[in-house]
Amino acid sequence: MKYGYFDEERHEYVITTPKTPVKWINYVGTLAFGGFVDQTGGALLCKGDPALNRITKYIPQLPAADFRGETLYLRVREADGYRLVTPYFTPCLSPYTRYECRVGQGVSTFVFENGALRVVTRVFVPQGAPCEVRDVEITNLAGWPLTLDAIPVVEYSHFDALKQFTNADWVPQTMQSRWVQDAERGVLLQYAFMKKDTAVNFFTASWPSSSFESDRKRFLGDNEYGTWAHPLSLDGDELSNGEALRGDNIGALMLHLGSLQPNESRRFVTLLGQVAQASDALELLGRYSSAAQVEAALAEIKAFWAAYFDKQQVQTPDAAFNAMLNTHNPHQCYITKNWSRDLSLYQLGFGGRGIGFRDSSQDVMGVLAQAPGEAKALMCNLLSVQTPAGSAMHQFYASTMEANAGDSREVPNAPHYYSDDHLWMVLAVCAYLKETGDFAFLREELPFYEEGLAVEKRQRGSVMEHIRRGLEFTWRDVGAHGLPLLGFADWNDTVNLPRGAESLFTAHLFGAALREWIGLLGYLGDEDAARHYEAYYQEMRARVEQHAWDGAWYVRYFDAQGSPLGSAKNQYGQIFLNGQSWAVLSGFASTERAEQALQSVRERLNTPRGVKLSAPGYTGFDPRLGGVSTYPPGAKENGGIFLHSNPWLVIAETRLGHGDQAYEYYRQINPAAKNDELDGYECEPYVYPQNVLGDEHPQFGLARNTWLSGTASWMYQAATKHILGIQPDYDGLRIDPCIPAEWDGFSVRREFRGCRYEIRVKNPRGLHRGVPHLLVDGARIEGNQAPIFQDSNVHIIEASLGA
Ligand code: GLC
Repeated sequence: MKYGYFDEERHEYVITTPKTPVKWINYVGTLAFGGFVDQTGGALLCKGDPALNRITKYIPQLPAADFRGETLYLRVREADGYRLVTPYFTPCLSPYTRYECRVGQGVSTFVFENGALRVVTRVFVPQGAPCEVRDVEITNLAGWPLTLDAIPVVEYSHFDALKQFTNADWVPQTMQSRWVQDAERGVLLQYAFMKKDTAVNFFTASWPSSSFESDRKRFLGDNEYGTWAHPLSLDGDELSNGEALRGDNIGALMLHLGSLQPNESRRFVTLLGQVAQASDALELLGRYSSAAQVEAALAEIKAFWAAYFDKQQVQTPDAAFNAMLNTHNPHQCYITKNWSRDLSLYQLGFGGRGIGFRDSSQDVMGVLAQAPGEAKALMCNLLSVQTPAGSAMHQFYASTMEANAGDSREVPNAPHYYSDDHLWMVLAVCAYLKETGDFAFLREELPFYEEGLAVEKRQRGSVMEHIRRGLEFTWRDVGAHGLPLLGFADWNDTVNLPRGAESLFTAHLFGAALREWIGLLGYLGDEDAARHYEAYYQEMRARVEQHAWDGAWYVRYFDAQGSPLGSAKNQYGQIFLNGQSWAVLSGFASTERAEQALQSVRERLNTPRGVKLSAPGYTGFDPRLGGVSTYPPGAKENGGIFLHSNPWLVIAETRLGHGDQAYEYYRQINPAAKNDELDGYECEPYVYPQNVLGDEHPQFGLARNTWLSGTASWMYQAATKHILGIQPDYDGLRIDPCIPAEWDGFSVRREFRGCRYEIRVKNPRGLHRGVPHLLVDGARIEGNQAPIFQDSNVHIIEASLGA
């Protein structure tokens, strides 16, 4: 079954049925104001913080047909009454002859036709504006005049998202709406007071409204035995004009659109937003009402994305690869950068997560070519929640910068740090410097996080000092084998072994971070510091090589008693993917062991739908292991296909020169390559999910948790830097591809340090890698590094594999 198609020219995925297996979403706006819109028009919006300032009530756990946050009713007058139509399909389940939800960047466009009507709606948040705009155009397709009313509706959430669900008396007692008529425009504005009067939500439409409703009970009618599919108040001509001073507040407007002749259209916009004072809402309405204003606001969003995409575009023989790299993957990377793991259909933004140190440090690396300034700003925030001791707070709230120790808070005797968090930042900082050459960043002074102290009183240090403390922390924080202690967890959140356990993942991440840092110090000419860390690197490598090789792969952890997990000796969890891929990424594994470890992955962990995180899965709860054993075998971290870790394997394979294998691993999880086989997979084919059920699970192949996953950043890095091999470096742009032998070449347009590169790679002999020299604007350069040009011209870089 197909649910839609890729429209590459317009950078869109076109969903052609409202009935996708689960909701498929798109993002509008940013964390400053925005959220997501699903393929049936439902919307979850917030301003500044999903936990602390939520606007619409969107409950993902409700059945798909239910009302979620926002919709639009059209009332078509007929001789004997009226017919209700919802052009988003829900909640009336209106029959249609054509349905489209075009998933663009920052805008979702809905097209609904039912023989009598065509409704085209564009949903977006204008750049920098604190409101969502819905631009609605309705055309009469019937051969006779139609008399129409439009009733746009929103349902509010309490601003404190969690409170909404924890107190069913206090919350409704605090919610109230006032309505104001703007005499000049004839429109009604609803002001919903939900933020203790410090801010006000508003809802309005550009078309004059004759009545309104703000009480859900009155809107649905019959003590709410009227339904969203048939709100009884719509049986009457007008709404009740009820100003709700308590209760479940909604906003509903009655817009009489009058009689439309055949082919005649009507258009109006609705605005839902939040402002400091009521008059600002009118100002916004003045800015985004007319067709020209809407087009201009959309053009601004489009220009942002055109510039974003333009930084790097690829052309390869694989259409699904191109579709992901040219549109959907960079789009997802930007969304994960903006939202961390805070708000999606799956990560509900109730305050449990906020902005994650580990996740966002990785997300940063997916937007460097396109949004280096935003990446830097996020890195500064992250570094500001690193503790003076060198490890990091696990997460923080975007609006308050208040940080906490994540899930480890819930376990009193556990270590309250994660062993990997701070190390990701080393990779992010180096990647940022390679992309931008902004070495002054290293000297920028930032605070450390000291709970209870005002920011001005906290210790400060340069970015370099932050990194130094992080590396020294891990160097000191080791266990019985001299390997890094696990802390509460490493990358794998769900293996929480009792204190004293050691993590091979963190050992390898430490190695990879050291390698990058030593490279930077060498480039900066700081030989002493480089030698200091080189000694750490060699020593950690020696410990890993001495203790962690299990015979055909590396173990993944040692518990406090020194027993391995991820060993052939274990009954379950015998082999873990990250223990192998990262042994290659750290450079710790000898070639022989690297080959053997990746061979073991192929044999024991690969499936046609992706590589599993471990095998075999644990079969029951084991309190010593923690969360990993709460899943059935094959789910999530317990032997599921946890996609985030697949691109690391892709990169590891390219390190060994295995171009075919790297590409196969890439392709088997590329959702765009399975657009024809989404049954059983269920999720959006235009973004990566976090997880797919593994082959030990009866629902093998089922995907969940799309959008906010480290998979986005790493798949983008794996494809662009490692398969296509376009690698920014401190002093040039390296071209070091590792591609499938069947590709006869590819090309990449890339902006780097303000200069444009047209890179053309040929593969006439069917090789995987090896660029011995380049033609740079026709002149031969030995090696594979193109220089940085101090101009803004287009430079042609030609390479041929093996020649
Ligand atoms: C989730 C978390 C991430 C963690 C991963 C593996 O994706 O957001 O931080 O590394 O799970 O447990």
